[in-house]
Amino acid sequence: MHTLSLLLILHLLKPGVYESCSLVVSPAGLVVKYGAPASANCTSDTVTSMGWEPSLGESPLFGTEVKELTWRVDSLTDWNIKPQCFEISEVGGQCARVLKVTVYKLPDRVSIRYVNHSGPVVEGHQYSLHCFVQNTAPIEHLRVTFFKVSTNGERTVLYTQPLNNDIHQLNNDMRQPVNESYSLQFSPTSVDDGAQWFCSAMLDLGPEGPRPPAVMESDRLNTTVHFAPEFSCSAKLEVRAGEGLTCDVRGNPLPSVTWLRDGQILTPPTHLSREDAGNYTLMALNRIGRANHTVEVEVLHGRVARGASCQAAGSATVAVLLHQLIHWLY
Ligand SMILES: *[C@@H]1O[C@H](CO)[C@@H](O)[C@H](O)[C@H]1NC(C)=O
Ligand SMILES: *[C@@H]1O[C@H](CO)[C@@H](O)[C@H](O)[C@H]1NC(C)=O
Ligand SMILES: *[C@@H]1O[C@H](CO)[C@@H](O)[C@H](O)[C@H]1NC(C)=O
Ligand SMILES: *[C@@H]1O[C@H](CO)[C@@H](O)[C@H](O)[C@H]1NC(C)=O
Ligand SMILES: *[C@@H]1O[C@H](CO)[C@@H](O)[C@H](O)[C@H]1NC(C)=O
Ligand SMILES: *[C@@H]1O[C@H](CO)[C@@H](O)[C@H](O)[C@H]1NC(C)=O
Repeated sequence: MHTLSLLLILHLLKPGVYESCSLVVSPAGLVVKYGAPASANCTSDTVTSMGWEPSLGESPLFGTEVKELTWRVDSLTDWNIKPQCFEISEVGGQCARVLKVTVYKLPDRVSIRYVNHSGPVVEGHQYSLHCFVQNTAPIEHLRVTFFKVSTNGERTVLYTQPLNNDIHQLNNDMRQPVNESYSLQFSPTSVDDGAQWFCSAMLDLGPEGPRPPAVMESDRLNTTVHFAPEFSCSAKLEVRAGEGLTCDVRGNPLPSVTWLRDGQILTPPTHLSREDAGNYTLMALNRIGRANHTVEVEVLHGRVARGASCQAAGSATVAVLLHQLIHWLY
């Protein structure tokens, strides 16, 4: 059979019209990396005339009196290819089977950044983080996830973009590589200061695709969050005579702190005596905001054993520890 009549036959092909179509395409579907080789077999119950279309070769891929015909390509570079195996029966009529081919390409690059913003972010404000995935196909199989890496190294998933099958499958052009951007609206809090963000793009092509699915991550985006002062010391401090007074305050930029006692500004005493007991007010200020904190200071003296020589310095945790230790010793 020569090319012209073959083309005429192809023109008449209507899959499914042939009642007893015994053709089996194996595998039924292919997931192929762009540029990679691919092949599939078409088999029939009986000796018959069958062909593949498109053949992708110089001559038509056709066999007379065969039971099997292999479709093969060394380098698949057609995003929209839909190979069909067809049979021409002596009794009249044709049947065809379509080989479902998914051609994929991993992204060239995955990157994360703010849109319409640069530099530090401010707590409580809204920002738009975008994940850009460059030159990948098919886009409907791409699953984008945003992550946060806390200052302690802990990784949390912030958001996973659902697969968007419905929209893209309608549009045949989407089978070709595209650039796509995914966004996440977020509002940072003070605990996000120093955290990092990144996004990952996973091309999940199902059981016929690479297992595990290929994942590409963006660089990490360092986050500086500007936030108003926050106190973390307790409302009541028990300090031993001779020790200093400290109270932790966080803020970015670093807040200025003013100590007050009975409405008078003072420098916090470094060696407390019994007279220093009382209520202190701390006022902290930075350009994001201000905060006040009142702490009741009790000064302990004399009878504390030498072993309890830890400093009443710093955080609330230390203060609480000291408190418990003193009660235990009495
Ligand atoms: C096609 O058939 C040939 C010979 O029967 C076999 O070697 C080959 O593995 C088959 N290919 C596929 C993709 O099934
Ligand atoms: C960024 O700003 C431009 C111009 O001001 C605006 O057109 C665009 O919608 C903004 N994009 C986002 C994601 O807010
Ligand atoms: C994707 O983005 C890259 C870099 O910005 C650009 O070179 C390329 O042409 C874009 N591709 C498409 C399909 O828009
Ligand atoms: C981000 O922070 C890490 C450490 O926290 C640092 O090593 C890295 O250089 C920073 N990257 C940028 C782009 O500032
Ligand atoms: C400190 O404040 C507390 C609670 O307002 C109050 O009960 C206590 O008497 C005050 N202490 C001094 C020394 O003023
Ligand atoms: C903190 O205390 C000062 C002085 O008493 C007062 O003027 C200011 O309003 C207070 N700020 C807050 C946030 O409570």
